[in-house]
Amino acid sequence: MNSVLVHCAAIISTILVVVAQNAQNLPSPRDLERSALSSSGWWNDHHTKNISSNHCEWPGITCNKGGLVVEINDCDAYEGNSLEDLNLLMLQNLVRVHLHGYGLILNIPTHIGALSKLTYLNLSTNQLTGEFPLSMANLTKLETLDISNNFIIGSVFPEIGNLMNLVIMDLSQNSLNGIIPCRIGALSKLKFLNLRRNKLSGHIPLSLGNLMKLETLDISLNLISGSIVPGIGNLMNLLVMDLSHNFINGTIPSRVAALSKLKFLNLRRNILSGRIPLSLGNLTKLETLDMSDNNIFGAIPFSMCKLYSLTFLDLSNNQLEGPIPLEILCKFPASSFLTNNKLDTYYFPNYRSCHYQTKEKHQIYIKIFLPIAVLVLVFVGLLLLCKLKSNKTNSDRPLATKHGDIFKIWNFDGKITYEDIIEATEDFDIRYCIGTGGYGSVYRAELPNGRVVALKKLHKLEGENPTYDKCFKNEAKILSQIRHQNIVKLFGYCLHKRCMFLVYDYMERGSLFCVLNDEDEDLELDWIKRVNMVKSIAHTLSYMHHDCTPPILHRDVSNNNILLNSKLEARLSDFGIARVLDPDSSNQTQIAGTRTWLYCPRVLGTNSFTKRLLDDNYFCCAELAYTMIVNEKCDVYSFGVIALETIFGSHPGEFISSITRRSAAETIILHHCLDKRLPPPADLSIATNIVQVVSIALACLNPNPKSRPWMKEVSQEFLVNNPPKLSRPLHNISISELMN
Ligand SMILES: *[C@@H]1O[C@H](CO)[C@@H](O)[C@H](O)[C@H]1NC(C)=O
Ligand SMILES: *[C@@H]1O[C@H](CO)[C@@H](O)[C@H](O)[C@H]1NC(C)=O
Ligand SMILES: *[C@@H]1O[C@H](CO)[C@@H](O)[C@H](O)[C@H]1NC(C)=O
Ligand SMILES: *[C@@H]1O[C@H](CO)[C@@H](O)[C@H](O)[C@H]1NC(C)=O
Ligand SMILES: *[C@@H]1O[C@H](CO)[C@@H](O)[C@H](O)[C@H]1NC(C)=O
Repeated sequence: MNSVLVHCAAIISTILVVVAQNAQNLPSPRDLERSALSSSGWWNDHHTKNISSNHCEWPGITCNKGGLVVEINDCDAYEGNSLEDLNLLMLQNLVRVHLHGYGLILNIPTHIGALSKLTYLNLSTNQLTGEFPLSMANLTKLETLDISNNFIIGSVFPEIGNLMNLVIMDLSQNSLNGIIPCRIGALSKLKFLNLRRNKLSGHIPLSLGNLMKLETLDISLNLISGSIVPGIGNLMNLLVMDLSHNFINGTIPSRVAALSKLKFLNLRRNILSGRIPLSLGNLTKLETLDMSDNNIFGAIPFSMCKLYSLTFLDLSNNQLEGPIPLEILCKFPASSFLTNNKLDTYYFPNYRSCHYQTKEKHQIYIKIFLPIAVLVLVFVGLLLLCKLKSNKTNSDRPLATKHGDIFKIWNFDGKITYEDIIEATEDFDIRYCIGTGGYGSVYRAELPNGRVVALKKLHKLEGENPTYDKCFKNEAKILSQIRHQNIVKLFGYCLHKRCMFLVYDYMERGSLFCVLNDEDEDLELDWIKRVNMVKSIAHTLSYMHHDCTPPILHRDVSNNNILLNSKLEARLSDFGIARVLDPDSSNQTQIAGTRTWLYCPRVLGTNSFTKRLLDDNYFCCAELAYTMIVNEKCDVYSFGVIALETIFGSHPGEFISSITRRSAAETIILHHCLDKRLPPPADLSIATNIVQVVSIALACLNPNPKSRPWMKEVSQEFLVNNPPKLSRPLHNISISELMN
């Protein structure tokens, strides 16, 4: 019995010795990892003197509870170390590798695919070269891959589609060429994709539209061609999209509008053409929009007014044309719009307000608010009447507030204070801006009593320029001296370094220019309204020239300075360069310089638009350049231009130069000049009125100022109720017949 026990014990001890011996001979996984780390040589130089026997304590090494290496992070490697020196086959427990900015050289080891547990690989900003090893495709657990800023060739390898768990992929700034592989569409968990600056060519793969979770897409600075795939509209979670600096052509698909979370959209420097899609206005979260350096044409859509969050906009270097919605213009610097030859920049009246972006909206206002407004006005009117009866004095007293003389309000049915205005515009917040010019902006303010006024405010910087300042004060001075139903009402002003603004009656429909150029509104401006408008402008100028003592010259009568109220009735505005004629100088006022208009800030500048202004609206004053005098006849000429423009629906510049040749005037038929957007005048009395307006306008356009009629004569001609009967039907009348 005992001998058996002894024998068994001997056998057991022998087994134990063998096991122990075997354990000593075969290195443990820990030993293998330690040897892989130390033989890399990465930890030798710095730490030889003070290196711990436990490699889990070495700088940058993290082990799990079982003592196995799971992370290498910030290992103090230094320039010139090679990733290939690290035996990855022995480090198969690694979950995270973060070696950013260590100057690692040479290739990514071919056996990197052995790291089957790896979820995070960040080798950004090193000097890695060569191609990705094929075994990369085995890293199927990988969630983050950052190889950015190296010299890897072909970094966007086709097998990338195997890395199904990738959430973040940054391969930017490598040298490679190649294309974006179609299989990228398989990375269904991807949120961040950066392929910036990689010399990638080919097209954007259709499969990109499958990356439904994508939040950031950056393929900028490559050689990508072809068009933006419509599938991009599937990327509903996209916040950032940068396709800039490529050769992308075609149009911007309207489906980009589906990217409702998008904050950043950069399409700069491609060869995109077509129009800006109307649906762009749906991107209400957009903060940055850069479409510069493309071939985009057409108008800037009003829908862009809806981009309230936008803080950066660049549309420069395209072929955009037409007016810029006011709210957009007020918000961004001129550089946002530069080098679009046909875009109307710099000149306030050509900007249309977002205010009129949809007609329905307008009609809702009219249908709902107008009756209410009328009721309120009637009520306020009655109250005021009672008040006036009980207190007849003081009706015209300036309502000076604690701001003293600088803030004056008169001629107004109710009290406005400086504070009311600041409050109503939230201290001139951009949201209330409805127009802008070279030297100031126009704001809409609804006062506590419901009354809406327009405020023209001098920009702070421009306020320090004596020229602008002078124009501004001149307007306040002249408008406070004259009253006429067809001159825009000035209610008051604030003229102080710190608050330069004028308070006017609000003109709902904007300038004549806007209305004539708005496809929606020009039809509403029918023949009768147009004829009446021309007549009322004639009466107004006649009043200024002949009923005011001393006479007042406007000197800037143009489609931009005739404003229209809700009933499309005209009011003359913008008296910035108007002049009171000095009675002692025989109706001739010397102007400082030869070109009056250049002293008005609104036409300062060197852009092509200014040139057009000078050519079109002011050639009337060509005589000024020679005679240095200005008199009423300059306004008469401008009136002629306005009258024709109103009837023709567009600026008569070319028409005027062509009719200087009598033979040409004989061949031009009046009927053909009329605004074609309106049906031809059916009624005989309307036709007669049109003929009268055109023939008077032609007389006003006589090249010799002395031969032009006075405004009083024009006004009286219009007052005669029965204009001359038509000798023949409208379609038979030539322009030359009307020129006598
Ligand atoms: C050696 O390592 C220990 C613990 O890591 C540290 O406190 C000590 O400062 C080191 N000594 C030298 C000379 O680097
Ligand atoms: C990649 O994985 C496959 C099997 O999944 C295996 O056959 C192959 O050897 C692996 N390659 C590398 C480099 O680890
Ligand atoms: C890679 O590491 C750098 C440096 O720590 C870091 O800035 C970058 O965000 C990392 N990349 C990713 C994708 O986490
Ligand atoms: C875009 O460019 C490609 C060549 O890269 C060409 O085949 C295609 O016709 C172009 N499309 C448009 C709309 O210009
Ligand atoms: C833009 O928004 C409007 C209204 O919210 C919607 O009717 C339209 O379908 C949207 N357009 C696109 C392209 O998403």
